[in-house]
Amino acid sequence: MAHPSTFPAEQWLAQWRGTPGLLNLADTYACPISIDDLTSLSTEKDDGPLITSSKLGYGSTNGSSELRQSVAKLASGQGTQLTEDDVVITQGAISANFLVLYALLGPTDHAICVYPVYTQLYSVPETFGAQISFWRLKEENGYVPDVQDLEHLFRRNTKMIILNNPSNPTGAVIPEAVLRDIVEIAKARGIIVFSDEVYRPLFHEPDSAPPPITTFGYERTLATGSMSKSLSLPGIRIGWVASPDRALIAACSRRRDYTTICVSQVDDQIATYALSPAVQPALLRRNIDLARRNRRLVEDFVAAHENRCRWVRPGGGTMAFIQFRGAEGGQPVDDAAFCADLVNKCKVLLIPGSHSFGCGEDFAGYVRLAYVCDTAVVQEALARLGKYLEAHPWDQTRVMADKKNSAVAEDDLKKRNTGSINTATNHTDSRGFTRPQHSTSGAEPSEPDSARGVTTATNHTNDSGVTSPGEDMSKKRAEKSGNSSL
Ligand SMILES: Cc1ncc(COP(=O)(O)O)c(C=O)c1O
Repeated sequence: MAHPSTFPAEQWLAQWRGTPGLLNLADTYACPISIDDLTSLSTEKDDGPLITSSKLGYGSTNGSSELRQSVAKLASGQGTQLTEDDVVITQGAISANFLVLYALLGPTDHAICVYPVYTQLYSVPETFGAQISFWRLKEENGYVPDVQDLEHLFRRNTKMIILNNPSNPTGAVIPEAVLRDIVEIAKARGIIVFSDEVYRPLFHEPDSAPPPITTFGYERTLATGSMSKSLSLPGIRIGWVASPDRALIAACSRRRDYTTICVSQVDDQIATYALSPAVQPALLRRNIDLARRNRRLVEDFVAAHENRCRWVRPGGGTMAFIQFRGAEGGQPVDDAAFCADLVNKCKVLLIPGSHSFGCGEDFAGYVRLAYVCDTAVVQEALARLGKYLEAHPWDQTRVMADKKNSAVAEDDLKKRNTGSINTATNHTDSRGFTRPQHSTSGAEPSEPDSARGVTTATNHTNDSGVTSPGEDMSKKRAEKSGNSSL
C-alpha cells in the first residue's frame, strides 16, 4: 500500500490549537455546546440526554436504532424515505468518509473530486491506489461546479464523483438544479455520487437549500454527515453514512467491522437527544442565526478592505475563502507566511489556502476563515486583522517588508489589546509546510517555497487566482507525481 498523504490543514491546526489566548477562526464547527446548554434548548421538561441507568455495553453495531432513524430523516426528502437500515453510524464524518472511500474505491478505479476540497476526500482514495481527477471550482462561477467541465473528466474506469456540499473551504452551496444535472449524468453512466454533507443543514438561506444527495431518486448515491459542524457537538465523535442503496451500505458496514465494534454509547445518547424534535430545531435556529450574524461581520470587513481582499460570499457552512493581496502591487500574499505571522503577532488563527487546499501551488493568497464561532471572537479577530493589514503592506518579498513593519504593528496591537499578545514565540518554518502527496509512489514531496519565506504567488496563478480547469489540474498533478497516465 502507498504511504498515506499528509493532511496539511490538520497539521496546521495541530500546531496552534490550544495556545492560550488564541482567537481561533480556523476550526470549522459552529460554536460548541455543553450538555447543560443542550438540555436548556429542549422544549420538553426532561432530564437531558444521558440515561445514567443504562448499562454501557457495546450496544448496537451500526448505531442505536433511534439515532439511525433520526439520521435517516435528515437524509430523506423529495419522496425518498430512508430508514434506519440505510444508515451506518461512525466516529465523526472523518470516519464516515474514510469508510466510503475505503470500501468503494481501489487501484483499478478512477474518481472525480471537486477541488478545492477537504483533503481527505481525494487523498484517501489515492492512498488506496485509485486515480483522481480534480473538478476545478472556479471563483468566477461562485465555486459552483460547472457541469460542462465534468464531461471532459470521465474515463473508462470512472466509478465515483465526489462532492462536498456546502463546501470546505469555500462555503459555496451546490444548488439543487446543478445537483440534479450531476445525478442525471452519473445515472446515465452508472457512476456513484458521493457527497460529504457534513455542513448540512447550515444554509444561510434555508428556503433555497438544496436537498441531500440521497433524495434525487438515484440509488447509487451516498451522503456523509455528523454532529460536529451545524449541530455544534464535535466533541462527541458521531457521524454517519446514509444511502438508498443497501448494497453500498453493506459494503461500508463490512469494512467498518475491521475498525469499529460500535460507537460510544454515551455519544450515541447525546446525539439522539440533540436530533430529537424537542431539541434539533432550536439548535439549528441558534446556529443559522449565529452564522448569518457573523457572516455580516466578515462581509463588512471585506468591504472595508476591498483593496486588500476579496471573496465569494458563502451561502452555507461555517467558513469563507478570502484572498489577501499586497497594498500597492496587488499581488497575493504568501498565505502560509501570512497566517503564521498573524498567529505570532496577533494571536489570530486562520488556515492558509494554497498551503492547505492548493497542493502548495493553487489559491495563492487565499485563507480559510471560519466565522460561526462566538461573535465577540470574530469581532476581535477581524479588528486585529484589520490593524495588521494597515501595518503590513505585503508588497515585496515578505521577509523584508514584514521585518520593517512588525515593530509598528506590535506596538499598535499591544496598545489595543492591553499587552495580551505574545509576540515572541513561533517562527515561520517548515512545520506543517508539507504538501499532500499526489502520487502513490510514496516519495516525499519537496518543501514548497513558502516554507523558505519566498513569495511564490505570482508564479502560479493569474490575477484572479484562477489557473486552469479540472483536466489541466490532473495533468499538472500527474507531472508532479511522475504518472503521465493521469
Ligand atoms: C468537509 C469535511 N468533512 C468531514 C470532516 C470531519 O468532521 P467530523 O469528523 O468532526 O465529523 C470535516 C472537518 O473539518 C470537514 O470539513
